[in-house]
Amino acid sequence: MPGRPGPGPAASRSPSDPTSENPTSENAISENAISENAISENAISENAISENAISENAISENAISENPTSENPTPRTRSPGTRPPKRVLMPSYSFLLNGKPVTVEAPSDMPLLWVLRDLLNVTGPKYGCGVGVCRACTSHLDGEEIQPCVVRVADCADRQVTTIEGLADGDRLHPVQQAWLDCDVAQCGFCQPGQIMAAVALLKKTSHPTDADIDGIENVCRCGTYSRIREAIKKAAAQG
Ligand code: FES
Ligand code: FES
Repeated sequence: MPGRPGPGPAASRSPSDPTSENPTSENAISENAISENAISENAISENAISENAISENAISENAISENPTSENPTPRTRSPGTRPPKRVLMPSYSFLLNGKPVTVEAPSDMPLLWVLRDLLNVTGPKYGCGVGVCRACTSHLDGEEIQPCVVRVADCADRQVTTIEGLADGDRLHPVQQAWLDCDVAQCGFCQPGQIMAAVALLKKTSHPTDADIDGIENVCRCGTYSRIREAIKKAAAQG
């Protein structure tokens, strides 16, 4: 005996389908579904509201703690065990520069050349190699030739530093400077302050230097003025 035909898939029938066997109950189901959806949407929107409320609370708490004029300020506290940042005091060094006392604040291992050029604006000593080779920076420390690019400022404290700027006596050029002009030694001029300071140091040690003594000067001149340097040193030596 054939059974009664089943209702078939509900989705294939509309609520107004006259062939539907139980339209009322299907309507009820679908209305339930709508109202469940509505509940769940409400729930989502309530969640959203409550999340917004939380985040607004967070903002307003932050505002209180960051606003020092707030009636209820939350004091900023350092985490336990941390210390306030240490203030590093820069050491200071005093020395005579070209006969005048100067004091500079600098790290102890800062090269004197940096101190002269960058902190004291004394730019006669030139920066060539920075490692004591080209000798463009040659100056004097207590009358002895030095390369300030490899001398720490801490090693100059309470001593006398002389650069090309301190060689002349007022308007009167040092005899070596004058000999340099007379022999028209300089070309580009970059190495010349160092060359002159090296020549002065040599003449202090040896008033009448030989060619071999002059060859002992290691200052580099990329313009190749060596023969005129030799001539000028001999001229300065002859003038005593
Ligand atoms: S910069 Fe070259 S020796 Fe000082
Ligand atoms: S004159 Fe130019 S490097 Fe010496």
